[in-house]
Amino acid sequence: KFNISIAGGGSTFTPGIILMLLDHLEDFPIDTIKLYDNDGERQQTIADACEILLKERAPEVKLLASTDPKVAFENVDFVMAHIRVGKYAMREQDEKIPLRHGVVGQETCGPGGIAYGMRSITGVLEIIDYMEKYSPDAWMLNYSNPAAIVAEATRKLRPNSKILNICDMPIGIEELMASNIGLSSRKEMVVKYYGLNHFGWWTDIRDKSGKDLMPEIIKHVEQHGYATDTGSDMEKEASWSDTFKKARDVQAIDKDTLPNTYLKYYLYPDYEVAHSNKEYTRANEVMAGREKFVFTECENIINKGTAEGTELTIDEHASYIVDLARAIAFNTKERMLMIVENKGAISNFEPTAMVEIPCLVGSEGPEPLSVGEIPRFQKSLMEQQVGVEKLTVEAYEEQSYQKLWQALTLSRTIPSAKVAKDILDDLIEANKGYWPDL
Ligand code: G6P
Repeated sequence: KFNISIAGGGSTFTPGIILMLLDHLEDFPIDTIKLYDNDGERQQTIADACEILLKERAPEVKLLASTDPKVAFENVDFVMAHIRVGKYAMREQDEKIPLRHGVVGQETCGPGGIAYGMRSITGVLEIIDYMEKYSPDAWMLNYSNPAAIVAEATRKLRPNSKILNICDMPIGIEELMASNIGLSSRKEMVVKYYGLNHFGWWTDIRDKSGKDLMPEIIKHVEQHGYATDTGSDMEKEASWSDTFKKARDVQAIDKDTLPNTYLKYYLYPDYEVAHSNKEYTRANEVMAGREKFVFTECENIINKGTAEGTELTIDEHASYIVDLARAIAFNTKERMLMIVENKGAISNFEPTAMVEIPCLVGSEGPEPLSVGEIPRFQKSLMEQQVGVEKLTVEAYEEQSYQKLWQALTLSRTIPSAKVAKDILDDLIEANKGYWPDL
């Protein structure tokens, strides 16, 4: 049986992930789940509710919540990390500051992503160091955002850490694709994909018999983007619904491939800004929606003393985390999209770039599959974006204002060095106490 630590225990995603883990106890048995957060009060509400839930649904699984790294990281096999440094209040700043300057306001793309990256690096490195101290054999399954910058930072600053960087967005999109062509699950598809995190393309999708599914999926995307007939859970939210529809225009510029939805921020930034509400961004939507819902449900469970009838739902979509942990624990060699150092997998691209590509995952970690040469359009876009990510990490390490200004200037979302500087100065002010001094 495994011991798991969830870093970012107070996250709105934690209850759904715990319910998902309970649903997979047969293939991934758990002894203890430990929650770790530096906001003890926030975490306690989630922990108290989850404890009641566990007692009712899987009494054999122990739960423990702590703000003490020793307690949280000692004697664990896996650390699932989904931390959000600065919480939603800072996400709101990441989104609203760029918008004030007429630039895309998004938590992982453009200036917002850079700002969030500068905060996340410290938090993720801290957890890696605790793991090194208290459970040196444990693996970190990391899906903390912005994953691209975090992955580059860990590659550069903690090269020997046992960290697996993974993102749920390709998985979410594959689920939509599968449902759009009448498959019961994304697992019926075998995909080829390459790019950077939140910046990539599918080039080949087949069923298990080898039948090419791309034409049918492309036909759907040309008409509806990734929108489904039935309306998936995410599509019920206005912002995601718009994102899935916009994939139609993103796909139009390269008709042979299928895009990650986040490319819309780089390819249609003018559209994005024009369709954003500068006063009410995604952070506000999440605070009023998911955040309020999860904490109210948890308080209800605590007050009633039972989780019976709770509307908290299992995050089955997060089951890729179990697939990943199982791949390591049982050497399954599962084929998964991971964020790894390129090292020649994309043969005409920077070897030290962190790229998102299919890997076979076993007990030694991910083994990247060869991608070969990529076309000029994608390669050029990726080179520019990898420059942004590397300069951000260099700026963090060297505490360099100059390099962070360069990183912002290089982002396709920002029109000039002047606008980049104005945004940077506002971000520095807003991130006092979170960023290293520049
Ligand atoms: C997807 C992305 C994540 C991101 C999340 C934000 O899952 O892959 O990287 O964190 O969306 O979702 P939210 O509902 O908080 O806007």
